[in-house]
Amino acid sequence: MKIKNAQFVISNTNYKLCPKENMPEYAFIGRSNVGKSSLINALVNNKNLAKTSGKPGKTQLINHFIINNNWYLVDLPGFGYAKISKEKRKEFETMISNYLLNRKNLVCLFVLIDSRHKPQSIDQEFMQWLAKKEIPFAIVFTKSDKLGKNILQKNIDFYKSEMLKEWEELPDLFITSSEQKKGTEEIKDFIEKLNLSFKPII
Ligand code: GTP
Ligand code: MG
Repeated sequence: MKIKNAQFVISNTNYKLCPKENMPEYAFIGRSNVGKSSLINALVNNKNLAKTSGKPGKTQLINHFIINNNWYLVDLPGFGYAKISKEKRKEFETMISNYLLNRKNLVCLFVLIDSRHKPQSIDQEFMQWLAKKEIPFAIVFTKSDKLGKNILQKNIDFYKSEMLKEWEELPDLFITSSEQKKGTEEIKDFIEKLNLSFKPII
């Protein structure tokens, strides 16, 4: 799919204030610093659309971007960021879970995993929660440019085999590098297909 237009729309702390739910929407979530904002920028080919940072904890709001005037990409704050107070963390968790549980036009949530890491319980528990709540999701492995080809494949295979111990089947899975724009066409094609079957809730 060609991205002809990508614009920032609005930032919110409350899902109730997000744009009207009449267009399909795709959100990005995962641990702080995993590369959510960078992946959004790689997808739309604009390094300055979503704000990125070398330090974790950069994205703190629900950020809507409208693409080709007919679907949304949503940049969410990361989870598992150590350097915030318990109260603030609770606030973030409530904000994100309310968004995920109530946003009717959310077609697919992309759960980002750093391809260098072994399965982490925080991600596994989060995906179990998504399944329980019937929130559709896909896995995106990030920063693949940081690994050699063989180690990357070994890590992905290990991740899959560990997941298969708990899951009957695996979700859709993408291997990406925002740095090298790897995997971005695949994600856009996936979105394009899902957009076709979107039925607005009136
Ligand atoms: P928070 O908003 O803090 O939760 O982080 P985030 O998940 O949005 O991460 P962000 O996109 O800000 O990227 C974090 C850091 O990782 C930045 O320094 C990026 O340049 C770097 N990064 C992101 N994606 C890639 C990638 O594909 N390859 C490499 N080498 N670095 C990446
Ligand atoms: Mg971010």
